[in-house]
Amino acid sequence: MNETNHSRVTEFVLLGLSSSQDLQPFLFFVFSLLYLAILLGNFLIILTVTSDSRLHTPMYFLLANLSFIDICVAFFATPKMIADFLVEQKTISFEACLAQIFSVYLFAGGEMVILVSMAYDHYVAICKPLHYTTIMSRRVCITLVLIPWGVGFIHTTSQLAFTVNLPFCGPNQVDSFFCDLPLVTTLACIDTYVISLLIVLDSGFLSLSSFLLLVVSYTVILITVRSRSSASMAKARSTLTAHITVVTLFFGPCIFIYVWPFSGYSVDKVLAVFYTIFTPILNPVIYTLRNKELKVAMAKLKSRYLKSGQVSAVIRNIPFLEMK
Ligand SMILES: *[C@@H]1O[C@H](CO)[C@@H](O)[C@H](O)[C@H]1NC(C)=O
Repeated sequence: MNETNHSRVTEFVLLGLSSSQDLQPFLFFVFSLLYLAILLGNFLIILTVTSDSRLHTPMYFLLANLSFIDICVAFFATPKMIADFLVEQKTISFEACLAQIFSVYLFAGGEMVILVSMAYDHYVAICKPLHYTTIMSRRVCITLVLIPWGVGFIHTTSQLAFTVNLPFCGPNQVDSFFCDLPLVTTLACIDTYVISLLIVLDSGFLSLSSFLLLVVSYTVILITVRSRSSASMAKARSTLTAHITVVTLFFGPCIFIYVWPFSGYSVDKVLAVFYTIFTPILNPVIYTLRNKELKVAMAKLKSRYLKSGQVSAVIRNIPFLEMK
């Protein structure tokens, strides 16, 4: 990275979520709790799915992988944001800033595509139930897990390629709680209009095409479900509602940001909280509350650990597990 040598900026200053000093302790408290909930909820899903052999099906493997990506999405910026509530001068080194840019597009891209993988799994389960086990072989399942990471990696590499060589020679204030690429590019001391446009098109293309794929598959699924009315379809419908809620919450803010990319950046900052914090917290909540099988497996997990007495103290304090 020779290019960084003749640029004068070695660190960026993050303005954070709120400029109000009085609010910082409160935000520190709230976001610490949210972050803890993200970790507990998602680890619990992974633990439940991996420890119960009846949940070793493509649907739950994909769900556990979604939880893993959720943990990653929450990890790249949130701990730093929380720590930053306690300091007045919120700085981040140039390298850490690049690492955040790399992470956000890798994980957010991966999250978008794994939602498409999950929609495909639903599509096969509901529209081709008789062929489900042949279509969703172990190999297909692993492919459905690997594609999101591959797409995320290509996506983030292409985004980063625009950025690493940008000259930064003065302004270094980023009005957000992490190094948001569209904001960082505006600080470069060359005209970045074309680069900004490419960045927006790149992300816009990925989010819009994932979104369209999701809309198409859910439309097909909904049409299929409507024409049947057995009890198993009621279950399918409840899973589907959960899934559509998650998709709307994740894509809503993303598409809003990229359709109005050059609008108010403080709006973007609030929307970024949605996909970095609210989505990772809502996935486990939505899936556990509406999923009977998962609840049963968690109850079993609870009694098993309580009997062995090992982590009983920890498990007893997890509200998700408190069910009749
Ligand atoms: C992700 O999916 C793969 C393939 O189905 C599975 O083997 C793995 O256990 C899953 N990962 C997690 C964290 O559950």
